[in-house]
Amino acid sequence: MTDENALAQRIEATRNELATHLAVSGAGTQIVLCPSGTDAQLRALCIVRALLGGPLTSIVVASDETGSGTALAITGRHFNTQTASGQTVGKGEPVPGFEKWVSRVDVATLGPGGRKRDVAAIDHEVIDATATAIRDGRKVLLLSMDCSKLGHRYPSEACLRTIAERWPSAVQIVVDACQLRLSRERLARYLASGAIVLITGSKFFTGPPFSGAMIVPPSFSVALSGSVNVPPGLSLYSNRNDWPMQWANMRGQLPNECNIGQWLRWEAALAEMGAYFAVPQEFRAYALDHFGRRCGRLVDDNGFELLEADLHDTGNANDDSEFAARTIFPFVARYGGHPLPLSAAIGLYRALNCDVSGRLPPGASAEEKALAAMPCHIGQPVAIRTQHGAETGALRISADARFVSRSWGRSHEDGCGRLNSGCEHVWQIVRKASLLVHHQISL
Ligand SMILES: Cc1ncc(COP(=O)(O)O)c(C=O)c1O
Repeated sequence: MTDENALAQRIEATRNELATHLAVSGAGTQIVLCPSGTDAQLRALCIVRALLGGPLTSIVVASDETGSGTALAITGRHFNTQTASGQTVGKGEPVPGFEKWVSRVDVATLGPGGRKRDVAAIDHEVIDATATAIRDGRKVLLLSMDCSKLGHRYPSEACLRTIAERWPSAVQIVVDACQLRLSRERLARYLASGAIVLITGSKFFTGPPFSGAMIVPPSFSVALSGSVNVPPGLSLYSNRNDWPMQWANMRGQLPNECNIGQWLRWEAALAEMGAYFAVPQEFRAYALDHFGRRCGRLVDDNGFELLEADLHDTGNANDDSEFAARTIFPFVARYGGHPLPLSAAIGLYRALNCDVSGRLPPGASAEEKALAAMPCHIGQPVAIRTQHGAETGALRISADARFVSRSWGRSHEDGCGRLNSGCEHVWQIVRKASLLVHHQISL
């Protein structure tokens, strides 16, 4: 076997291992590896274009709670100045093959104060946008959200069902599950319904940044293993080894290269997944629930404003498994009674990550200095509007797979002790944030 073939086989094995962890192996489900969640969105567009034809409208649900590059990627535009394969491109310019092809409708989901808009209103807007696009002779890529940076899920399942039933050959649902905070049962149900699902190994599963994937349901496997027109610009982003062996025609249109870094990042993410799924389900559920109850209280008790969650409005909460627990805790910091402006929230986020003990006033205690020196890594602020229309940033503390797998010992009792020390770190994060806000320290 040549080195090239050996590498191709090894990457196919990585895809298979990912499928096994997520319990989607067999029955024709295929996985495409991507450098990031945003890259996965661009690839989904390629697939939907191949399946439905065009012209196409991408409807982006929760456009205000997703990745910053989504608006460009999902319309076939370069979403940065450099692609994953190192090509310099014009950010915002069309990727070759998508010129004049795709329009976009954004459905924002946050109201004033970062509160969720009424789900019925969101559903209505999504159905309306779909009907309008189809009336105008367009096909629709519906990017639905499960779940967003703030932990929300939209539109409702009833809405997705209505759309799938009313326009079966004109709409393709693509679920943005890049946070990968959903149960394997739920993932299986999306695939069984014919939805394409986008994931990453870098968020809940704490793999290195830049590890994305697209999961394509069995219903499309045959169509995509035949002759498919790949937009020429996809070669700037992807190579044949990202794509499943079965899709030989598609692979043949892409460079015969390999993104070694992407493959290795996925290997690291798979190690985290393996460790997480090795933990008994009961303990996983207990740990995430425990984190949720402690984290919510700690954020509240330290004077921060916790944003509401309420994501389980789908009528199918019983297939959420351990993800029935809330795992993302967004909160707003205030100074002098007012929410911090977005730039100050970003500065606070940066200061949390660094040793800022030197910025404390001279009379600071040893405990305060130790706290200020501690690196506290949390989610980047998400821009939201306050009740009065000003822009602030919601900081985010999240539970992740490593919190669960590192807590697990040989027994439940053993694990519970370690859960408490994991939660201790959350306490340190909120105390440091509170100290920095008090002394107005940001970077
Ligand atoms: C819901 C959601 N979708 C997509 C993305 C984009 O993923 P990536 O940062 O890997 O490009 C993000 C990033 O945070 C996200 O939260």
